Amino acid sequence: MSIGLDIGSKTIKVVELSFDGDKATLKAAGAVGYKGINIPEVEDKKSFVDLATAIKKLFSEAKVSSKNVSVSLPESQVYTRVLKFPLLTDQEVASAVKWEAEEYIPIPLKDAVIEHQILERVETSTPPQVIVLLIAVPRKLVEKYVSICTMAGLECVGVETELMSAVRCIAPPGKTVVIVDFGAKSTDIAIAKNGELFLSRSIPTAGDALTRSVAQTLGVSGPQAEEYKRAYGLASGQLEGKVSRTLAPVVESIAEEIKKAIQYYQMDLKGESPTSVFLTGGSAGLPDIAPLFTKLLGSEVVIASAFSRVSVDDKSSKSLANFAPLYPIAVGLALRKD
Ligand SMILES: Nc1ncnc2c1ncn2[C@@H]1O[C@H](COP(=O)(O)OP(=O)(O)OP(=O)(O)O)[C@@H](O)[C@H]1O
Ligand SMILES: [Mg+2]
Repeated sequence: MSIGLDIGSKTIKVVELSFDGDKATLKAAGAVGYKGINIPEVEDKKSFVDLATAIKKLFSEAKVSSKNVSVSLPESQVYTRVLKFPLLTDQEVASAVKWEAEEYIPIPLKDAVIEHQILERVETSTPPQVIVLLIAVPRKLVEKYVSICTMAGLECVGVETELMSAVRCIAPPGKTVVIVDFGAKSTDIAIAKNGELFLSRSIPTAGDALTRSVAQTLGVSGPQAEEYKRAYGLASGQLEGKVSRTLAPVVESIAEEIKKAIQYYQMDLKGESPTSVFLTGGSAGLPDIAPLFTKLLGSEVVIASAFSRVSVDDKSSKSLANFAPLYPIAVGLALRKD
């Protein structure tokens, strides 16, 4: 059994998988909204106890049966960067990364957990290169997530960044694609090539900003704005187009950031043009979001299917159908091989 736990700023998601060799089967899945805390900033114990209580309740309602979990860290708190070296051996790369890390990450090395992944060995380029992804996360943040798990009676057996999990779940082999996790607090953008994360960005605009914009423009309460957002979204024929006109500029600003990430990938990293864009996260449920993004980005945008690599029985499949965009990170975490 393997469990992925995605603690978002608004929703907690869990997925439990069992394995028969490489074949994964869904055992349990569930999501719950909670008060929401900003884990990197929160220090008081009471908030963590409340969060741990919400996690315990979710595990019991979703009937999760085991205790070993992997968790993801918010992309906005993580530093990733692609480095290029001459064709070094794996061991040489490991020590070169150590030497170079200080230059690329904005926190002192002693306060960071640093990892790297060799993405590609390009022997045909001149000069030949090894391309490496550097990942650095604040040590204190990892400790917070581990202690939240412990408080919830769980054992944390794996930690990675949200987009690493999303890429494992969604990115197909042999292609270059964009993955956009359109959540509540942040929209996270990944470019993955052949199933590996090459580039990640986090922008602080997502579902919360959409709701705020509806509340301000239409002069309604937060909960009412949330209802309008979910009911009408970007559909222009609804409520005289008032809601869609309010939401569209926010979505346009996000599309601009996605375009910038693609441009950077093509220009600076010399990557090829992505063939599709996969949309995930709760805000991917916004009515008519995929057609608008398709128009703004000029490439095919689809809502990611979280369970395409997992065997799911008919009953669970039906009950998850409306919520599938919530689960890619939890599924990706549960698919981890440690
Ligand atoms: N049907 C829907 N239409 C529009 N928005 C929706 C819908 N369902 C959920 N949302 C929005 O999705 C967001 C929650 O999504 P998600 O669970 O991905 O966020 P999170 O992981 O908690 O946040 P973050 O990753 O930003 O910390 C909320 O802003 C909510 O309003
Ligand atoms: Mg999220």
